[in-house]
Amino acid sequence: MLVASIVGTRPQFIKVAVVDRAIRDPHRHQIIHTGQHYDSDMSGDFFRQLKIPDPHVHLPLASHGNAAQVGEMIPQLSEQLMECRPDVVLVYGDTNSTLAGALAAVYSRSFVAHVEAGVRSFERELIEEFNRVVTDHVSDLLFAPDERAIQHLSKEGLGARAVLTGDVMHDLVLDTVDLAIRPAVPGLDGDFMLLTIHRALTADDPDKLAGILTAVATAHPRVIFPVHPRTRQTMDRHGIRAGAAVTMIPPVSYLEMLWLERHASIIVTDSGGVQREASWLGRPCVILRETTEWADLIDDRHCLLAGTDPARITEALRTVDVRPRDVSSLRPRAAERIVRALEERLGR
Ligand code: UD1
Ligand code: UDP
Repeated sequence: MLVASIVGTRPQFIKVAVVDRAIRDPHRHQIIHTGQHYDSDMSGDFFRQLKIPDPHVHLPLASHGNAAQVGEMIPQLSEQLMECRPDVVLVYGDTNSTLAGALAAVYSRSFVAHVEAGVRSFERELIEEFNRVVTDHVSDLLFAPDERAIQHLSKEGLGARAVLTGDVMHDLVLDTVDLAIRPAVPGLDGDFMLLTIHRALTADDPDKLAGILTAVATAHPRVIFPVHPRTRQTMDRHGIRAGAAVTMIPPVSYLEMLWLERHASIIVTDSGGVQREASWLGRPCVILRETTEWADLIDDRHCLLAGTDPARITEALRTVDVRPRDVSSLRPRAAERIVRALEERLGR
């Protein structure tokens, strides 16, 4: 079986790292990089550290903005798929690279499967929600990370294409947690808060960003903040300065992030991946959003939603009391389930 994975952003490199290991023996795997993330600390470093094979193709994406990115990617991806003619195209998550990959697969008449299907936040204003819904509806096979995702797919009439696999990101945490690397950042010996912010609705809004930074710095004397390039741009453009409590660092590698997550006394984030990792690693987590597509984390009280209002964040950080997650109930080896489902479906 020849599998082509289309990836382009940091969380997709992390997901494909797990899936690649499960596919490679005995199948063939080609990775197509859309070029959406391009700095070495957002892209190449992940390939090296997680031993992901070099992309078979790396597109020179020049566009910024949703419409331009998707529009530029589709014809190039479609052309690549016509050339390499994979048995299946895998797309991952909910980014512009996911949607463009799925549509390119449709246009090149390839069989397409979606990893992390059925995940919903029901926030129609989020481009990621649109990307997920459209990708699910055009995909031939839907790999759902949990029961809730299966239910969403069934309600949308997609149940027959869905397979419950578990979450590939959990597999990577299990496989690498003992390899976590302490970053070379001062002040990691005592208590610290880990902060990440990158969602466009927050990261592009200077007032929200400044408010969050004030709230976290007031709540904790030491905040470690690996800054996503989107967030860095807004801070630079508007001259936003974090207080002395906040140590801003460039994006860190996956194994360094794992170390920070594991040792943080609290994690504050708007990232889908980081909130799940916090729950798997048993760290308290406050989510800087009004809702989350990982609603079990809230229902089961593993994380707390705080939105972006500084007063609410301050209150959440004062009162946060979350329950540890029973990770033994989770479905491990999601990537192997994905490969088995593909073998069964494609008969190879
Ligand atoms: C994208 C995804 C988001 C995902 C996130 C993971 C979409 C719509 N959004 O958001 O769902 O959670 O990736 O991190 O696909 N930039 C750089 N260097 C890079 C990458 C980006 O400087 O390596 C800057 C560019 O100016 C770019 C901006 O960051 O315009 C935003 O990047 P983009 O890929 O459009 O969206 P993300 O915010 O990264
Ligand atoms: N991550 C990382 N370095 C960082 C920040 C995040 O390796 O500086 C990892 C994080 O551990 C998780 C993934 O990136 O595995 C989450 O990606 P991101 O927050 O960019 O996107 P999202 O999950 O929200 O789509």
